[in-house]
Amino acid sequence: MPLLLDARDPSAIGQAAQRLAEGSLVGLPTETVYGLGADADNASAVRAIFAAKGRPADHPLIVHLAPGDTPGGWRSAVDHYARDIPAFALRLMEAFWPGPLTLILPRRPDVAAVAAGGQDSVGLRCPSHPVAQALLREAAQRGVRGVAAPSANRFGRVSPTTAAHVADEFAALGDDALLILDGGACPVGIESTIVDASRGHPVLMRPGMITPEQLQAACGQPVRPRDEAAPRASGTLASHYAPTAKVRLMDGKMLQTALDVLGKDARHIAVYARTRLRAGPGVKLQTMPADAAACAHELFAVLRELDATGVRLIWVETPPPLTEWDGVRDRLSRAAA
Ligand code: TXA
Ligand code: MG
Repeated sequence: MPLLLDARDPSAIGQAAQRLAEGSLVGLPTETVYGLGADADNASAVRAIFAAKGRPADHPLIVHLAPGDTPGGWRSAVDHYARDIPAFALRLMEAFWPGPLTLILPRRPDVAAVAAGGQDSVGLRCPSHPVAQALLREAAQRGVRGVAAPSANRFGRVSPTTAAHVADEFAALGDDALLILDGGACPVGIESTIVDASRGHPVLMRPGMITPEQLQAACGQPVRPRDEAAPRASGTLASHYAPTAKVRLMDGKMLQTALDVLGKDARHIAVYARTRLRAGPGVKLQTMPADAAACAHELFAVLRELDATGVRLIWVETPPPLTEWDGVRDRLSRAAA
């Protein structure tokens, strides 16, 4: 089993930072989801991330940077990894870092090639979670300039939002191979908004809790939707975030009709909906929050819990057609693909 440490334990952050400096893996909480981290400039450490996740080597990882006021923090670290940074990208960093925004920037050719999965770009983000920040600060003091960290799940699975999820995903790794910092449940709950800033204009690659309107207001120019020419990104594959049970999206009315038709035969089904529904005995009904942020916060944990009950189908009510629901809608449609 991986070594699980309470991040409030006074020596935990130091131990985790030391492991990063030595080229070992650390599971860390961020405000979005838990990451599986390694020193971004240590090729063999980064390869261990791909191996543990079962992730193809050409799927790039996000490099996490320490807070701006830290020696070695993002204001200097950005220039270690990226070049030709457009003005709109700097405005986005100033507006949203630390926070749940990742920027894809042109990569300096001599750095973080393995983490970048061979792309000529690099994904950078400065997380706001206090445990991630403390870890990145202490790691920076030990010479680690950035921590490459994908979501801490095996490839194609639901992202983890608690330390227990991470321990489940990587139960096969020993305590010498993986240390997990337990910082509680992640507040945001879905992965960062990703903006590609490597093609001269901002392109939204992955919706998250920062909306296109907020991005546009901060960077002063329209943020385009992603197109097919976009570089491949695992979180943008159609089928991703998939539980074992089959996920299906339906509106409230259709859900009720389907439950009525099935009657007593609906026991192998779990339902996650905002609409109040009538269902036969044994049907697991889980209430979806009416607020997008509250739903995002619990979404992956709910999918994991419903999946663990052994149901064959998870029926989910389609989120409202508002931009604040874009991130949740995106994750649910991928889970249903
Ligand atoms: O909130 C998050 O972003 C979390 C936490 C741990 O920071 N991380 C995360 O990482 O979701 P991951 O690897 O599961 O998803 C990162 C996405 C992938 O779709 C990846 O392909 C894309 O970012 N990405 C990273 N670097 C890229 C690059 N240079 N070019 C294109 N896409 C990139
Ligand atoms: Mg992921």
